[in-house]
Amino acid sequence: MDSDFNLQTTTVWSFPERGNWGTHKGDYPGNWSPYIPKNIILRYSKENEIVLDQFAGSGTTLVEAKLLNRRAIGCDINDNALIISKQRVNKTLGNSKICILKRDARKLDGIKNNSIDLICTHPPYSNMIKYSIDNKDDLSLLSLEDFYIAMGDVAKECFRVLKYDRYCAILMGDMRKNNFIIPIGFNIMNIFINEGFKLKEIIIKEQHNCKSTKYWKDLSIKKNFYLITHEYLFVFKKLCSV
Ligand SMILES: C[S@@+](CC[C@H](N)C(=O)[O-])C[C@H]1O[C@@H](n2cnc3c(N)ncnc32)[C@H](O)[C@@H]1O
Repeated sequence: MDSDFNLQTTTVWSFPERGNWGTHKGDYPGNWSPYIPKNIILRYSKENEIVLDQFAGSGTTLVEAKLLNRRAIGCDINDNALIISKQRVNKTLGNSKICILKRDARKLDGIKNNSIDLICTHPPYSNMIKYSIDNKDDLSLLSLEDFYIAMGDVAKECFRVLKYDRYCAILMGDMRKNNFIIPIGFNIMNIFINEGFKLKEIIIKEQHNCKSTKYWKDLSIKKNFYLITHEYLFVFKKLCSV
């Protein structure tokens, strides 16, 4: 591990510098900082174990898994995302096997029950960023109600493929509509708990580079609301008996 890297030790995380080592780049819409999967992978898995990111996007988790000598499976329904993540993983140093598949996170065909050591993933936050125009499997095109139903199916698949006594980490953000907060994060948290997961951690992740412009600051004063600058990183455990 690099000498200047410190594992996070509290429930508030903030990475003002996103992290651009290896093949990481912050150019994919809604990408996450590589510090997030790095912290989760190091804390909850060992070398050679299998990490799953079923909303892989540009492959940040997969690149980190390879650098940390973990095997990994990455899925996405977006062809462009699959191309980018394959390129970045192939250019990353390391010998671990990283498998990249076109799969819907609601139906992870080919991934066996109780076979994954760690899930570390970052779904769309409902339709805040749209990842395609008309891909029927794209969760970012759904209404909020349908998004919650879809995430119920995602939680079921997470529970099916994860080994017992292992962890599932998922990043989620809230939304504001008509001046009121929609607590998407807590609703997704409850969906995972209802699927049988035990809640291990709620981590607050500070958001940088978003809505920091004068336009948004002025609007927040004029319309009397606070700008959302945090996301939730939920860590769940699949216990042997629930
Ligand atoms: C927030 S992005 C992930 C970004 C990623 N963490 C990164 O750093 O690049 C969410 C991804 O979920 C994908 N997605 C949307 N619906 C999906 C589905 N049903 N199954 C799998 N992936 C899906 C989108 O194409 C998008 O790439």
